Amino acid sequence: MQYFFITGTSRGIGKALAERALREENTTVVGFSRQATLQHERYRHIKIDFSDIEQLKENVTHFFPALSQADRIVLINNAGTLGEVNYIGRLEATQLQALFHINVIAPAILMNSFMKAYQNIEAEKIIINVSSGAGKYPVDGWSGYCASKAALDMWSEVAALEQNKLKEEGAATSFKIFALAPGVVDTAMQETIRQVDQRNFSTLNKFLALKRNHQLDDAAQTAEKFFYLIHHAEKWKEVLQDVRRF
Ligand SMILES: NC(=O)c1ccc[n+]([C@@H]2O[C@H](COP(=O)([O-])OP(=O)(O)OC[C@H]3O[C@@H](n4cnc5c(N)ncnc54)[C@H](OP(=O)(O)O)[C@@H]3O)[C@@H](O)[C@H]2O)c1
Repeated sequence: MQYFFITGTSRGIGKALAERALREENTTVVGFSRQATLQHERYRHIKIDFSDIEQLKENVTHFFPALSQADRIVLINNAGTLGEVNYIGRLEATQLQALFHINVIAPAILMNSFMKAYQNIEAEKIIINVSSGAGKYPVDGWSGYCASKAALDMWSEVAALEQNKLKEEGAATSFKIFALAPGVVDTAMQETIRQVDQRNFSTLNKFLALKRNHQLDDAAQTAEKFFYLIHHAEKWKEVLQDVRRF
């Protein structure tokens, strides 16, 4: 049996990932987001707003049930938001807080609980935190988004380092951890980017051109690349990955 826990499954990359996972046999998928848009006999949806960290803390222990046997268990922290696009000094504090809750604190809490729940089970255990190229270089107007993805990258790197240490000390089982940049994918997030006021975001024209020139990746094809990583997880040593390398 395979078990997938995927956040942000109501649309975009997360929905494509859940649909791709459900094409595999003996696979159960648990999805998380505010809206539920998927229906399948092996899919269970948990409606949750990740900007509400108190609600997440109260419920998180119920998300990862005890499993007596599994071949593969995967957590994909995919839910994310671009947040308010504007220069620092003009941002609204509540939106800034929500962005870090959704993009950093929620994935961190979920990953910690997932690892607590499955640390002793002997299965292939993979965690993919969906990152972004924008976590590696600054983009004006995207301060919160860039910083949140950089935080997720470092969180993933520390977790992988810890797993390697535990393996060296003789742990029977460990987690394989990646922070994966998905490329530029044709989703609602890209639509949001194209609607931003150029005065708050000088790179707007690049994103308008990507859409105009049909250069955005398709979510289903992107999901396929995630599954290439999942199926060959041991082959990849580095934590920070980009689908454009596959
Ligand atoms: N698209 C790209 O080009 C691109 C590039 C680099 C990185 N990424 C990353 O890829 C991931 C997926 O992006 P996408 O393009 O598929 O975005 P999307 O189409 O906007 O989908 C975002 C998903 O996250 C969920 N989500 C957002 N806010 C949430 C909240 N408060 N609580 C719970 N769930 C929430 C949404 O569900 P609900 O609204 O139903 O809650 C939705 O399912 C994100 O982490 C993004 O940063 C995307």
